[in-house]
Amino acid sequence: MTALELIRALAHDATISIVVTDAVIGAPGPAILYANPAFGRLVGRELSEIVGRSPRFMQGKETRRTTLDIFRRALASGERFHGYLTNYRADGTKYHVEIDCRPLHSIDGRIENFVSFEREVVRRIGRPSVNGAGRYEPAHESKDLLTGAFRTLGVFQHA
Ligand SMILES: Cc1cc2nc3c(=O)[nH]c(=O)nc-3n(C[C@H](O)[C@H](O)[C@H](O)COP(=O)(O)O)c2cc1C
Repeated sequence: MTALELIRALAHDATISIVVTDAVIGAPGPAILYANPAFGRLVGRELSEIVGRSPRFMQGKETRRTTLDIFRRALASGERFHGYLTNYRADGTKYHVEIDCRPLHSIDGRIENFVSFEREVVRRIGRPSVNGAGRYEPAHESKDLLTGAFRTLGVFQHA
């Protein structure tokens, strides 16, 4: 069994959005190999039209280039990226998304895939903050079956 097969089985019923790509960082990569149904709902698309594309298809006018540069550098150096982006659904509506993206390594240490945990967030009213932390809160309450596993992995926790 591969890591991808394991994620595919476990992520299917998760309410958090989960997307797995190959390890190609430069355009036209990274290519989406798997997205769970929650990710399809988040981005407003059928899974069949998501697989094979790069996650860049969700970007638009208000997607901050500086944050994407930080994202790209994290991918290139094999580090976690945790941050917030403005993205767009298929119908053009925009949403804020919290992204926790990590490399998946093979036994010999090579990066084989990236996996990203994503959830929609909304701006908190009247809560100034220095970085993204505390400025956003989840748009929906999550009662995920995998809550314990996500906590163990530190998903969405600030480093
Ligand atoms: C697993 C994974 C998930 C990603 N999800 C998103 C996403 O939801 N929204 C987004 O704008 N970019 C996402 N990206 C980032 C873009 O694919 C791309 O890496 C980013 O735009 C930086 O590269 P660039 O400078 O070549 O554009 C994701 C990347 C990976 C590897």
